[in-house]
This record gives sequence, structure tokens and C-alpha cells, in this order.
Amino acid sequence: MTKQEKLEKLNLEMNESCLCELKATAKNPVPGFGNANAEIMFIGEAPGKTEDEQGLPFVGAAGKFLDTMLASVNLKREDVYITNVVKYRPPNNRDPFPEEVEACFPWLRAQVELIDPTLIVLLGRHALMRFLPKLRISEVHGKIVHAKVLGLGPRTYFPLYHPAVALYQGNSRDLLLEDFSKIPEILQKEKPARELRENTEKM
Ligand code: URA
Repeated sequence: MTKQEKLEKLNLEMNESCLCELKATAKNPVPGFGNANAEIMFIGEAPGKTEDEQGLPFVGAAGKFLDTMLASVNLKREDVYITNVVKYRPPNNRDPFPEEVEACFPWLRAQVELIDPTLIVLLGRHALMRFLPKLRISEVHGKIVHAKVLGLGPRTYFPLYHPAVALYQGNSRDLLLEDFSKIPEILQKEKPARELRENTEKM
């Protein structure tokens, strides 16, 4: 089975077994979209109305801006993996409850372990809160964080403001684009550092 097939199987299992109560009100599960071999994984908050209708992450207004940011560093959504901390739409787009985040987390963890990306981009406060709860988005956006959390081993996180913020705060758009523009250079640095780490662990 290819990695992509394994990921699709995992996402199907998620919808059968996930204990998240949002399943009852959502139209569709939104497990994630993209390349199982991606070097970059984007993790947002939760699906909104359009995402719920299509079963795909970030396909509404915030998603259009995410596409613009991806294009600004010569990436397409097929090159990366995009998902959310919560896999079902909260009614009226309310913030997800901690127990909903908790119920979806085993699937998110399994996605991270399978894809094993070089860089995890945390989109917004909710994703940051799940992985690095002591940090504040206003202080760490656009900065690399190396951390070993949630049983995921040593990983590289890159927190950003949520793309939806740019839709209602004009100046955040430039800030987000500026933070995003650092991604290619970060990858260049992180890839050899990661290979070195992995080889050292094997010795
Ligand atoms: N906002 C998110 O956090 N995720 C989506 O999939 C869409 C909007």
C-alpha cells in the first residue's frame, strides 16, 4: 500500500470511529487534503460552512487566501497536506470545545505520524493552543519552534496567524504574507538538520 493509500484508509477509519460529537450536526467529515509525502503540513482550526459542504479543508474565503499564500512561495495545495485540529464543523462556526479537539486528536496525531512532515505550520490560535499551549500567537507567529510534544517526537513548528484574520484585518494580510515568505528558507535549513538528527539517532 502506498503512503497516500494508507492516509486515505486512515481518513476513512476516522469517519467510522471518531468519537467527536460534532459528527451529529456536520454534513460531511473534513479529514484533510493533500500529499501524503508532503514536507509541509498545515493545521487550521475547524471546517466552516463551505468546507462542511464539500468535505474539503480551507475551500472557503480563508482557503482562497491560503492558496494565494501558497502560490507566493510557488506551492500548490497538492504539494502540501492541509487539515484541522477538529475534523467536523462546529455549529454556526463557534469555537470548538476542548472535548471536540480531544476526540479528534488521535486522528490528527496519526496523520502527523504517517505524513511525518519536516515542518508543521500551525494556523491560528486553536492549532497553537493544541500543540504549544504556553505560547502566544502574537509573540511566536513567524518564528520556528522546535518542540517534543504530545508524544510526537522532536518536531519543527511554525505558528502563523489564521488566514481568516486577513479577511477582516487588512494589515494582517501583509504580515501573514511576510511570515509565509520565510517557509522556503526554513525548509532548506530544516531538511538537512532533520536528516542529520535521524542519522545520529540510528548510530
Ligand atoms: N478555517 C479553518 O480553520 N479551517 C478550515 O478548513 C476552514 C476555515
